[in-house]
This record gives sequence, C-alpha cells and structure tokens, in this order.
Amino acid sequence: MAPETSFWHPYADMGSVRQSEHVMERAEDVWVWDTDGNRYLDGTAALWYANVGHGRPEIRAAVAAQMERMEACSAFFDLANPPVLELAHALAERAPMPSKVFFNSGGSDGIDTAAKLARRYWWEIGQPDRNVLISRTAAYHGTHGLGTALGGIPSNRQGFGELTETVQVRHNSLEEMEETFERIGPERVAAVFMEPVIGAGGVYPPSPGYIEGLAELCQRTGVLLIIDAVICAFGRLGTWFGIERWNVQPDMIVFAKGVTSGYLPLGGVIISERVAEPFWGEPGGPIFRHGSTYSGHPTCCAAALANIAILEREGLIERGRENEQALLDALAPLADHELVSEVRGGVGTMAAVQLNPEICDRQPRVTAAVALGARAAGIFIRPGGTSVAVSPPLTARVEHFEMIAQGIEYGLNRVAKSRAWQHSIRGAMSRAA
Ligand SMILES: Cc1ncc(COP(=O)(O)O)c(C=O)c1O
Repeated sequence: MAPETSFWHPYADMGSVRQSEHVMERAEDVWVWDTDGNRYLDGTAALWYANVGHGRPEIRAAVAAQMERMEACSAFFDLANPPVLELAHALAERAPMPSKVFFNSGGSDGIDTAAKLARRYWWEIGQPDRNVLISRTAAYHGTHGLGTALGGIPSNRQGFGELTETVQVRHNSLEEMEETFERIGPERVAAVFMEPVIGAGGVYPPSPGYIEGLAELCQRTGVLLIIDAVICAFGRLGTWFGIERWNVQPDMIVFAKGVTSGYLPLGGVIISERVAEPFWGEPGGPIFRHGSTYSGHPTCCAAALANIAILEREGLIERGRENEQALLDALAPLADHELVSEVRGGVGTMAAVQLNPEICDRQPRVTAAVALGARAAGIFIRPGGTSVAVSPPLTARVEHFEMIAQGIEYGLNRVAKSRAWQHSIRGAMSRAA
C-alpha cells in the first residue's frame, strides 16, 4: 500500500482524500495527464487560471532566462528590477483608468492589499470614519483575513472566530445596495468589492444595469469601487480586466490567476491615481506600510510578460468573449436533466450548471459527486456549493465545449442512477414537485 500522504489538500475532505489522492503529472494546452497515463480535458483551466493553456515553451524560456540572470531580488523601499518595471507599465497601459500597480503573490493577497489601502486612503485624507467594507452574497474574495471577512459564501466564513466586520448585500440587488449605503451613511463606507461575474460562488453574470448603477452610486457618494477581477481578467470576459465591458471607472482592480496563466504565482492591485495621490504626492509624504516578501518578484513578472505576449499575439483576450455563446449553447441542453434547475453563463468563457437546490440541501456533496463522475469520463469541472462550474483555457474550441457538456451529463447520470444517491434525490424531487 502507498504510504499515507503528508499533503493537506486545500478545501479537501482529508478523511477521504488521504486514501484517494489523484496525482497529475503532465499537461499540454487543454489536456492534463495523471500518473496512470489517463488524459483529462481541463474544463476549469486548473482553478480558472490557465488562460493560455498548459505547457507554453515561451513562458518556460522566459522563466529560465530570468532565473539565470537573477532569480529573485527584494523590491522593498527603492529597489526594483527590469521585469517588475516592465510589467507594471504594461498593466497600467492596459488598465481602464490611469493607474499605478502594486504586486503580491496571489488573489487573496491582492484583496487584503486593496482593503487595507482603501481604509488607509480615507485615513490619510482625514476621513477615518470611512472604514466600512461592503461586499455581496455569493462573492469569493480569497482566504486571507479581510478576504474571508468579505466573502459571501457562508460555509467559508464559519468557525474562524470573530472576523473583521463587513456588510454583505444581495449580489443582484442595486436597490438593497442603495438602502445599505443610506442605512450605514455613505460617509462611513470605505469601499464596495465586486466581481463583475461572480465566479466560485456559482457563476452569476450581473443583471443588466447593475454594474453601471453601482458605479454611479459609488461616484455619487465617494465610496471606492474595488473590482475583484481575479477570475474575470486576462481574457476570461474578453477584455484585459473584465470590467471594461461595462464602461465604468473603478478605483482599484485586483488581479491574479490569468496574469501568469498560473505558470508562477502572482497577483496585485491596479490603483487609480485618485487613491495613489496621497501616497505619491510629495517626498516625505505618507507611506503605505504594506508589502510581502515576493512583491515584485522578477521571475514571476517575467512569466507574466511572456504570458501577456501570448494573449496578445494569439488574440486570446478577445476569444474570451467570442466563445461565450458557444460555451453556453453547448451546456444549455443540460437544463433538461432531472437534477438540473438552470444553466448560467453567456458573459465570458465561464458557465455553471445549477443543480436542483432541494437535492443540494439534502446532499451537500452532490456537486462533488457530479464532478467526480465527469472526471471518470475524462473531464475536469469544478464543484461548488450547489452548482458545477466550467471555465476552460481560452484556447478551447467548440468541440471541447461539447466534450465538457458530455462529461457533465455523464456525471449527472451517474449520480441520478446511483443507489447511494437515489433516496435523497427522489425525496428532494417529490418535495420540489
Ligand atoms: C474572485 C476571486 N478573488 C480572490 C481569489 C483568491 O485568489 P488566490 O486563491 O490566488 O489567493 C479568488 C480565487 O479563486 C477568486 O476567485
């Protein structure tokens, strides 16, 4: 028997995974192979990040070349390196507003950076009472302290003791957002966090007018609008940062994942000149006392530059939008399956198959069972609370979308037919009827 694993898997039921790790060892474009040689279609771009697909030699070469020159160097205080300078410039140039760029190691880092900077901004300009942070139900903003407090998926917030106080508003209700602003008093609100399309919480595109309305509300009240583009950026929605589709001016944009397509860990925040100004104004002015060891890591930045060159050269940014309808069309027939209540998507190359909520109430692990079924058919999909999500690399084509739909159907059928699930499924169906 194989020795028991020492690896504690993120978000995993280790009581069962300790016996059933599934080890991947090779990847190319939209495909991943396990150690037994089985091939899988990566219907999730790993964790929503392999935007250019796997195994790109250009990124590998850029990383190796940077490693040979100088693998790492601190960027604290006045230090910098050529890749971080070039990347900051490239991102600022592509951002929808004049901006500066702060780097760290991932999305959670970026969220906590943005939340701290929002509060510190108001403190610097003499409005320290503006410290309330607002987010939305179903939102996912990572796993750090402030991101956990901002998260709108209840199970991710439980059992960690007292979290920083934040306010959560129903994700699709502009009216409730306005009422919340009024109740708290806008002069106490620091910032609102928003994913343009909610990702891990179940792929919820915004309702028409919602994003423009929220941006207008923030502008009217001075509240900072912080876009969490960790999933939506780098082509996932068909633009550099996702938010450009709505023609609004954010105060900050948090990015990660697709900035390197996951080849190396990197994240950060695009910061508008409004927010940067108090810190960038005069020598001897305020210092944002924040930054992590790998902020501005040259090898991670070199990977990002090579990734951006591929996205641009192959037209993959636009592809995220060009493919959105084809992906939705491929999955749409699954709405007729007995276990499914809805198929969502159509904004960017991301979609979700929503299971009947009554079934999920009775069997919270049903989405994991569907995802395992799809995997048995050679397809990776991502199980969420009550839905399974799909977000393939931007190199994926219609034939891959069809294969993903077939894999999900296989997973749904396997659950529907399984004796172990029959009782709760039939019970939920009869209650729903
Ligand atoms: C919208 C969003 N924000 C933040 C994060 C956290 O990013 P990371 O896991 O890189 O810390 C994620 C991760 O999935 C995310 O989807």
